[in-house]
Amino acid sequence: MSRRPVNSSRRYGDAGGGAALFSYSKSRSPPFISILLIVLGALLIVAYFHSGSGRSGGIKEPVTRVEGDFSCTFEVQRTIPILKKAYGDSMHKVLHVGPDTCSVVSNLLKEEETEAWGVEPYDIEDADTNCKGLVHNGIVRVSDIKFPLPYRPKSFPLVIVSDALDYLSPRYLNKTLPDFARVSADGVVVFTGFPGQRKAKAAEVSKYGRAAKLRSSSWWARYFVQTSLEENEVASKKFSQAAEKNSYKPSCQIFHLRSYH
Ligand SMILES: *[C@@H]1O[C@H](CO)[C@@H](O)[C@H](O)[C@H]1NC(C)=O
Repeated sequence: MSRRPVNSSRRYGDAGGGAALFSYSKSRSPPFISILLIVLGALLIVAYFHSGSGRSGGIKEPVTRVEGDFSCTFEVQRTIPILKKAYGDSMHKVLHVGPDTCSVVSNLLKEEETEAWGVEPYDIEDADTNCKGLVHNGIVRVSDIKFPLPYRPKSFPLVIVSDALDYLSPRYLNKTLPDFARVSADGVVVFTGFPGQRKAKAAEVSKYGRAAKLRSSSWWARYFVQTSLEENEVASKKFSQAAEKNSYKPSCQIFHLRSYH
C-alpha cells in the first residue's frame, strides 16, 4: 500500500524534470528546433502506443512472474498433472498448506474423485466469496502453522506445502515440518522458491511478519538430514519421469519427503 504514493510522487518528479528541460531548450534554441522536438516527441508517443498494444495482446503469462513476485502456490496448480502421475491414489485426498490455499483447493476439487483441504497460514481479509465459502464449510482453515495442525496423525495421504516454510525461522521449522510428516500418510511435497528468485518486499514483511528467506537446495538437504526427514525416493523418481515426459520444468524447488510411520 505504501508503495503507491512513493511511485506516483516519483513520476510527478520526472514529469517536472522533463518540462524544465523542454523550456530550457526552447528558450535557447531557434524555433525550428523546438518544432523538431515536438514532432519527434509525437513520433515517440505513437511508437510507444503501438508497441504497447502489441504487447498486451500477445502475452498471457501471469503478471506476477513478469514482476518477479513469483509464487510457488501458483506452481502447485501447474504441477497437479505431474503430481497425479507421481502419487497416483494418494492424490485423491490432499491437504494443501500455504498462502492463497483457496485457489489450490478449488482447483484440486475440480479434479475427478479428489478431496482437498487447505490450511491458510495468514489472515484472509480480502478473500472472495468462493474462499469465504470454503472457510465456512471447514474445508479451508485459517491457522498459524507455528503450532501443531488440528488434525490427527495420517489424516491425509498427501500434504502439499507451498510458500509457507520460507517465512519460518529454523526454530519453528523444526516443529512445523515434522508436523506435516505426522498428519500425512504417504508423503509431504514441499514447494519452495529458489534463492534470489524474489526480493523482499515491504508489503510482504508487514503481512507475514518477516521477508521470505529462500534457502538453497543444499541447505534443505542438510536440514532434512538433521530433522530425520527422509526423501521419498520412489515418488521423487516417478515425479522426475513424469516431468520429463511432459517437458515440465519446475520454477520452484520441489522436495518429496516421507511421512512418519
Ligand atoms: C532444529 O532441530 C535440529 C535437529 O533436532 C537441531 O540440530 C537444531 O539445533 C534445531 N534448530 C533450532 C533453531 O532449534
